[in-house]
Amino acid sequence: MKKIIFSSILILLFIGCNNKTNTKVSSKNESIEYKVDSVLKLMTIEEKVGQMNQYNGFWDVTGPIPEGGSAEKKYEHLRKGWVGSMLSVRGAKEVRAVQKIVVEESRLGIPLIIGFDVIHGYKTLSPIPLAEAASWDLEAIKNSAKVASAEASAVGINWTFGPMVDVSRDPRWGRVMEGSGEDPFLGSRIAEARVRGFQGDDLSATNTIAACAKHFAAYGFAEAGKEYNTVDIGTSTLHNVVLPPFKAAVDAGVRTIMNSFNELNGVPVTGSSFLQRDILKGKWNFDGFVISDWASINEMMNWGHAKDKREAARIASIAGSDMDMEGNVYIEELAQLVKDGVVKESILEDAVRRILRVKFELGLFDNPYKYCDEAREKEMIGNPKHHKTVLDMAKKSIVLFKNENQLLPLKRKGQKIALIGALANDKTSPLGSWRIASDDETAVSVLEGMQAYKGNKLTYVKGADVFIGKQSFLKEVIVNKADKSTFNKAIRVARNADVVVMVLGEHGFQTGEGRSRTNLQLPGVQQELLEAVYKVNKNIVLVLNNGRPLAITWADKHIPAIVEAWQLGTQTGNAVAQVLYGDYNPSGKLPMSFPRNVGQVPIYYNYKNTGRPIDKDGNVFWSHYSDVDKTPLYPFGFGLSYSNFEYSDLKIDGTSFKIGDDINVSVNVKNTSSVDGKEVVQLYIRDLVGSITRPVRELKGFELTKIKAGETKTISFTLNKETLGFYNNNGNYIVETGDFKIFVGGSSTKTLEVNFELK
Ligand code: NOJ
Repeated sequence: MKKIIFSSILILLFIGCNNKTNTKVSSKNESIEYKVDSVLKLMTIEEKVGQMNQYNGFWDVTGPIPEGGSAEKKYEHLRKGWVGSMLSVRGAKEVRAVQKIVVEESRLGIPLIIGFDVIHGYKTLSPIPLAEAASWDLEAIKNSAKVASAEASAVGINWTFGPMVDVSRDPRWGRVMEGSGEDPFLGSRIAEARVRGFQGDDLSATNTIAACAKHFAAYGFAEAGKEYNTVDIGTSTLHNVVLPPFKAAVDAGVRTIMNSFNELNGVPVTGSSFLQRDILKGKWNFDGFVISDWASINEMMNWGHAKDKREAARIASIAGSDMDMEGNVYIEELAQLVKDGVVKESILEDAVRRILRVKFELGLFDNPYKYCDEAREKEMIGNPKHHKTVLDMAKKSIVLFKNENQLLPLKRKGQKIALIGALANDKTSPLGSWRIASDDETAVSVLEGMQAYKGNKLTYVKGADVFIGKQSFLKEVIVNKADKSTFNKAIRVARNADVVVMVLGEHGFQTGEGRSRTNLQLPGVQQELLEAVYKVNKNIVLVLNNGRPLAITWADKHIPAIVEAWQLGTQTGNAVAQVLYGDYNPSGKLPMSFPRNVGQVPIYYNYKNTGRPIDKDGNVFWSHYSDVDKTPLYPFGFGLSYSNFEYSDLKIDGTSFKIGDDINVSVNVKNTSSVDGKEVVQLYIRDLVGSITRPVRELKGFELTKIKAGETKTISFTLNKETLGFYNNNGNYIVETGDFKIFVGGSSTKTLEVNFELK
């Protein structure tokens, strides 16, 4: 019986194609729509619900196992065609096996779409996304996503749960490592680059995968940076800060969107019709599908928004959550809800149409095993070309914070170098926390990277543990005593060294999902170690490894050279060593402000002026803190280089423009040093008076450019109505007349400025 029906799908599709030729329907999409409808017509209510059901693989979880999630049941449902997708199944052989169950044993044989968290790579890892964002290099970011999809698609995966496009201003939130930082404009450009990298130009190619912009929406605004917390933000922040990167991803053609665990202004976003139906599928015309986050439909019960699973299924499906990730809610409740007339069958059909559309686009109906080629798997995983790309990305992600007395680059010969810190000799931490498929101990450590430079005498001492206790992907930190047994040895070696390189910061597992922190200082006893070493040798290069902005105020005051090296993925050690030795001139700029202390958080460059921005009368009644400067330690857009750049001649081609005019701006940037370098030239605007108050600065353009030693380059930007407007509180984009300022420079705070008027 099932074989007969499966062949009837194929015949129908064939007739569909023939009809298409007969009726001269030529566009590929129309042909897909026809096929989708043909399949839909064959489906029972249960099979439709089945397409909306995603199960996790049986041997791996990325969250708590929801009630009713047994392996036997999953097998049975696969056979019945009650599963539309699996996540975290990987390997050409394994995916083939699971695909075979639905294709050969279920009634209609509709192939599964196989999802996976390919966040910054599959096996060969790029830097964590926040680090990549620090490169401001859209081409490199796109290439990094391409490597990720080349490897993932070779192990049977055809859909990644990335990019994460959540804007966040709160480094206490552990997931800032997964995003592009605090700015909606930079975040939008990076979202586009990543979507294009993952999906390529042709989704049906064997080396591309569907992308998923997540978490829709406002997850990055969890109160107090506490994971999964309430989000309560105003309309202006929602439309101007949170939504733009999602819109950019949709405009770039992202095929799926993941909703989220958080509520927004009292409504769990998984059950938000406003976000999913009105904005995403309505205003933005998104025709892909929405996946819930892991059991986020169930979690509406904990939020107190749904009284039971039946109500959760009703709310989420009507609100536009098309697929239930591992929650078992749709599969248990939805068919009955339709039969009872509570949920219209058209809701199911809309969801299934979206899901089938993406499956057709991926070419899964043509060949469900197309991503299951073991020979390709062997060739792609860890391919040397991938290592080259991730090394390039890693170098570009490094940000130089300080370099007094030109301590860097290090001299290549005759130096005694002390390398200190547990992270310097760690081959797992640099992989970050989102690296399910990558093996422990596979990153090049900083120690290994530095050992490749033979001219100096390098001595390594651990000094102290990074963090206290043990931690793995799924387990919490077990607090016990840090190992300080080599503390004194570190001080001895440092005393006799010409230069001390200290690699300190957070372990890869200290950031990411479920890793919120209230303290932004160096964890454990690392600060103590840093200060003890400083007492005996001031020539310290501090190399930071971290997945979030840290409050390193003491280090900034005392340590002459500071290099932000995040968690840079598989090639970490080589990238760091090449920067320290000057074989690569750093050009990264911060995508997120670094606070002076945790009390300043949330801190961000595009803040509002307030009614009392400055101290006019020498009294206390102005917007500031009485115990610490109100500026960040390192602002958004900041980053040094071994070159020096001087900005001059900021010009604009008029002083008065009409809405709709192009406004051309140019600036000269001179490399005044004797080394070739790269600079990210940044353009910000300020709309001085608005019907909705505008931030003191908003990034509206940037260009990463190479400038040779002694060379001057003219960099040009064009502003227009797409960049000069903003969203009002009804979510409508408007451009208002009035006075504007333009700022151009190498950081959000060090800029030249000009004015113009918009009439
Ligand atoms: C929960 C996370 O929030 C989401 O980002 C991820 O894609 C899913 N788990 C699946 O692992």
